[in-house]
Amino acid sequence: MELFIDSADIADIRKAVALGVISGCTTNPKLAALAEPGDFRHRVEEILGIIPGPISVEVVAEQIDDMLCEAEEYAAWHERVVVKIPMSLEGLEVVAKLERERDIRVNVTCMVNTNQATMAMMAGASYVSLFVGRINDLGDDADAVLQQTAHSIDRGGFSTRLIAGSMRSADDIRRSFLAGAHIVTTPYRFLPEMAHHPRTVETIQEFKQAWNQARSEGGLS
Ligand code: E4P
Repeated sequence: MELFIDSADIADIRKAVALGVISGCTTNPKLAALAEPGDFRHRVEEILGIIPGPISVEVVAEQIDDMLCEAEEYAAWHERVVVKIPMSLEGLEVVAKLERERDIRVNVTCMVNTNQATMAMMAGASYVSLFVGRINDLGDDADAVLQQTAHSIDRGGFSTRLIAGSMRSADDIRRSFLAGAHIVTTPYRFLPEMAHHPRTVETIQEFKQAWNQARSEGGLS
């Protein structure tokens, strides 16, 4: 089980990594557009310096040759760059070429069902990303889609890592791991929510008060 940070925002990435629970990063073109302006390659290099794990960078090209070209450019930035290829028939061809012929690691993204993920695995994807929030938005059951996909990975003997993305709450993270995701990628904002519980805060206060009282009455030195 691993947690990735789903962000291109350096401040959020630093805060998340400081917690000691993050082992990779996923970005996408929208996240890059929403983060502070600047050179995107420089941003990715900064992230690589903060996180010692894989960083997914997504192609925006749509034609096979253009996707291959863009993917090769990103992969050349660093050996830990994983190229995100959005799911499509053209995308599958690109995945097979990148993984099998060019030794480039691929994360197939924007997927909402097990058939898509199965094709991506068969094409050789190192990572497959299912979008939990968007699956639930469709009225489908993201837990079931994750379970079926995890089952297909085991049954097919694939080494593909299953990423659950599109988190909408801390509870989505809990459920995704339970349903079989190897990796959950989350925005920073759900990490404080995962760590916090009012009962924990009350308990800490209760213990501290007892300690202080005992010290003030001379029963503890
Ligand atoms: C994952 O890799 C994606 O970047 C992300 O989780 C998309 O989530 P969204 O549905 O919030 O856009």
